[in-house]
Amino acid sequence: MTTTVADELLAWRKEFPIVDTCTYLVSHSLGAMPRKTAHYLQQFADEWSSRGVRAWHEGWWEIGRNTGDILAPILGVPKGTISMHQNVTVAMAVIASCFRYDGPRNRIVMTDLEFPSNVYLFNGLRRYGAEIVMVPSRDTMRTDLQRLLDAIDEHTILVPLSYVLFRSAYIQDVAAVIEKAHRVGAHVILDLYQGAGTVPMNIERLRADFAVGGSVKWLCGGPGAGYLYVRPDLAETLEPGDVGWAAHATPFAFTAEAIEYAHAPERFQSGTPNVPSLYSARAGYEIVAEIGVPAIREKSLRLTRRLMDRATAAGFRVNTPDKDDERGGAVIVDVADGQNVVDELIRREVIVDYRPGAGIRMAPHFYNTIDEIDHAMDVLTEIAAR
Ligand SMILES: Cc1ncc(COP(=O)(O)O)c(C=O)c1O
Repeated sequence: MTTTVADELLAWRKEFPIVDTCTYLVSHSLGAMPRKTAHYLQQFADEWSSRGVRAWHEGWWEIGRNTGDILAPILGVPKGTISMHQNVTVAMAVIASCFRYDGPRNRIVMTDLEFPSNVYLFNGLRRYGAEIVMVPSRDTMRTDLQRLLDAIDEHTILVPLSYVLFRSAYIQDVAAVIEKAHRVGAHVILDLYQGAGTVPMNIERLRADFAVGGSVKWLCGGPGAGYLYVRPDLAETLEPGDVGWAAHATPFAFTAEAIEYAHAPERFQSGTPNVPSLYSARAGYEIVAEIGVPAIREKSLRLTRRLMDRATAAGFRVNTPDKDDERGGAVIVDVADGQNVVDELIRREVIVDYRPGAGIRMAPHFYNTIDEIDHAMDVLTEIAAR
């Protein structure tokens, strides 16, 4: 059964040209480009070249909503709930601009294992009266859930929370955090970046208030296509301050008065959509949606288990949770002199990366083979032994 699934997914290898040229184990950072992406980018160029300004009303203006609709089943959210932005940081800033921070409910609670960009952004809200509560973790693998839950109270307005931690691939108990936050009237922003496309998720069922992410990694969609989901019943009550004309109910009326908000998802839009990036994102979303994240996950667990077994047998420390239900798609292996080892791995066409304080990050996706795992570990073991 297991072998059958693996064989089926390997049929996708031919759609990802880079896997024929190297051992590509870095999908937690930049997923491989689908062959079809070149076709969609060509389509964009052809439309611009042949249709000119008419292209706006032949699909370009609605491209954000339509791209979000392809992504929606992967995240487990309804169609019409996702707006597209340049990246996670910009999407987070749009959410932050929906709230005030000058009253008693002014605390933003997060842990020290969140992605640094989120920390920088929310720290910047101090100038508007926000208080940042940074919950320390006991190690770099897991957040301290109880401490986080205890820190969320009636003064909390926002809780930005990674679904999967970028440093360790730890899958957090986001349901527990959402439950506590909602009990005290706070909102949770899930950062799905390290999970979407490799870990099955149902964001609607979780009743997350917001979810953000980008397309560069497991979604194989390339840069410039960040996404923002807002819970539908909440969306219509929010008035983002960080908006532009694309968020207006009638943008082409060009009224220079107070904004009359569009309904979601356009309500959260800023200005002109990032059309070429959204064309580039499409093929990856389509492929991930067609395969289905549960099948990707089944294979991912098998390949990451093999990586961990090989790493442990070679005497390396593994900085990733051992339990399958706690581990996302990447494995982090702690090796002395990690950056130099990675430089040598890349020189030998084994593409992985290194993060200080974590180790060498290795991430198989549905297009990788078990032989590639063994090859990468053979080369790593040989380099590290020198
Ligand atoms: C969990 C997580 N959040 C956010 C980011 C960065 O997001 P962006 O560059 O789209 O703002 C990353 C990038 O690696 C990430 O892993």
